[in-house]
Amino acid sequence: MSAHGTPIPMTSRRAAPLKGVAQIPGDKSISHRSLILGALSVGETRITGLLEGQDVLDTARAMAAFGAEVERLGEGEWRVHGVGVGGFAEPEDVIDCGNAGTGVRLIMGAMATTPINATFTGDASLRSRPMGRITDPLALFGARAYGRSGGRLPLTLVGAQDAVPVRYETPVASAQVKSAVLLAGLNAPGQTVVIEKTPTRDHTERMLAGFGAEITTEVTDQGQVITLTGQPELTGQTIAVPRDPSSAAFPVCAALIVPDSDVVVPGIGLNPTRAGLFTTLREMGADLTYENERIEGGEPVADLHARFSPELRGITVPPERAASMIDEYPILSVVAAFAQGETIMRGIHELRVKESDRITAMVEGLRANGVKVDEEEDGMVVHGGGPDAVPGGATVATHLDHRIAMSFLCLGMAAQRAVSIDDGGPVATSFPVFEGLMRDLGAQIVRRNR
Ligand code: S3P
Repeated sequence: MSAHGTPIPMTSRRAAPLKGVAQIPGDKSISHRSLILGALSVGETRITGLLEGQDVLDTARAMAAFGAEVERLGEGEWRVHGVGVGGFAEPEDVIDCGNAGTGVRLIMGAMATTPINATFTGDASLRSRPMGRITDPLALFGARAYGRSGGRLPLTLVGAQDAVPVRYETPVASAQVKSAVLLAGLNAPGQTVVIEKTPTRDHTERMLAGFGAEITTEVTDQGQVITLTGQPELTGQTIAVPRDPSSAAFPVCAALIVPDSDVVVPGIGLNPTRAGLFTTLREMGADLTYENERIEGGEPVADLHARFSPELRGITVPPERAASMIDEYPILSVVAAFAQGETIMRGIHELRVKESDRITAMVEGLRANGVKVDEEEDGMVVHGGGPDAVPGGATVATHLDHRIAMSFLCLGMAAQRAVSIDDGGPVATSFPVFEGLMRDLGAQIVRRNR
């Protein structure tokens, strides 16, 4: 089933070379945070370049339900009038976060230290995902959660009456967990400390500082120690959301595997906590260059130039790089099928609790299309056969997962036979213009009648 409607089966077949310039929409992580931090601020936040994917629209609706004024002014242009730290009102109805793990987890953090109750739910994918990783640390602040078994949604969160600050070492490398704790720490007196052994994307820390919070990050032997001083007055900001590197990954990778392609993807953030895929592709021998490198909004940015790369070779992806490319393993495993030799991806157990179990989803879909893959508990090994070695021809189950859907549509662009997916609907959660953008580059993607 599609995230919010009937399934949309799609087929992608071998394309002419992909050529042109791909304008990628706003970053999903930063879009969620812009709305949430805007809602927790005093005064007005103006956002341009907001990703208008379903995940982010669900977060916008949720912020309105908690009492913020949220208004769309034009394409990607939004205004949020916030209620201030601790100012959330109790929502009158259930908060439906759709497919968005980031949305629901950050919002739970943001409300956990305000004495209100809220009930959260989502689609079948989100209702199957673990929430204990969020509700456990939120309980330390004094919040209580009543969910289904395993802490799954639907879940009611009872915000702390008298929140206390927390010192928390994240048990998994997760920016969502770190961010939920920091957002909860906003309305607790004193200092909330998060320790993470492996650095994860740092947008929450950067943006909290930008909104006026006192927050520091110290690198120690234990890992990164992030200290937030509670109960700041956040003030509304003007935010230009950068383009999403996780979405850029699809046209970049498609260009590397479709013969004679030449694609430019302008203005992509290369924040080191997000850019692991591009480093990996270059190590595999991809013809991928960074042009016009510059700093925008405090973030390193470049135009990515990707060309067909017939000499790709398999590598071992360093497990310590996983957090910086955690959403990109599905599309990397597609590129690996067109590389010579083994691409070994380990230390990625977290992929099993994303929108789907992405290890199993990729292994099954690649095998169905004639690619040799080994599945491991915390990883996978793809045995690539070079530029023209993928038979294709199968239909893949996407399990309500946008990145599985887009990855297999990219596989179809370079495989010998067409590749189909059972449902492309969830693509709209993160990259609503994917189909049109890829078609403009020359891809052949069609929606099939059911
Ligand atoms: C995100 C963190 C990551 C990532 C997700 C977005 C964020 O999830 O997979 O797409 O915006 O904080 P985890 O925190 O579960 O690793």
